[in-house]
Amino acid sequence: MNRKPFIAANWKMNLNRTEAQTLLRDLSNISVKDSESEIVICVPFPYLLLATEQFQGSQLQTGSQDCSSHAVGAYTGETSAAMIRSCNANYTLLGHSERRRYHGEKATELSAKIREAHAAQLKIIFCVGETLEEREQKLHFNCIHEQIGEVASALQELPIDSFVIAYEPVWAIGTGKTASPETAQEMHAYIRNVLKNSFSMAPQIRIIYGGSCTPENAAALFKQPDIDGALVGGASLNAASFKSIIHSY
Ligand code: PGA
Repeated sequence: MNRKPFIAANWKMNLNRTEAQTLLRDLSNISVKDSESEIVICVPFPYLLLATEQFQGSQLQTGSQDCSSHAVGAYTGETSAAMIRSCNANYTLLGHSERRRYHGEKATELSAKIREAHAAQLKIIFCVGETLEEREQKLHFNCIHEQIGEVASALQELPIDSFVIAYEPVWAIGTGKTASPETAQEMHAYIRNVLKNSFSMAPQIRIIYGGSCTPENAAALFKQPDIDGALVGGASLNAASFKSIIHSY
């Protein structure tokens, strides 16, 4: 099955405006043609327009790191999917473990966010992942099964090419501990099987790996048959590192 590689950057809450502009400029100089990957840079909200303007005419796309579960109205501090789309971004991350952990995001809210994003024509990078405790208790497969199952009906409303699943073991995020290529592959294959319960086109759904992906480990991860790319946090804050990850595919 031919799935287009997908590499996304997640800047999280990093970089001031000047640093962001420099990195956006450096990224827009990366030739992604050779890699034939889809590349999405997920920036903090205030930099969405800077990113889309900088990436005009390039193959890089812009994403946000979240969107509101509401369409419009009295929701102080929230940013709607339509606002994000109006800045010409075309992706949003949803369900990142840091949102689940620090903002208590759960299935009902996440399903609403998926529907809002889709209504605003934003594509979705939907994150799942188990904690270290869950893995140690051998609950990691159950955990992932549940995280996918609880939003499957919302995802089923989307065209198959408008969402990507990111497997991000929480114990590997920002810790420098990467899942071994075999451990990651085992879970990606499992996720694809779970997706088969809800999607006849499951073999076409891209599943990307996140969790301390670096230029050093990217190639070995990308060799695995069910790993279709990466969601890169720390290493995406440096243009040379991110470029090297893109070109590892
Ligand atoms: P990391 O972050 O690459 O710094 O581990 C990945 C992510 O959380 O998206």
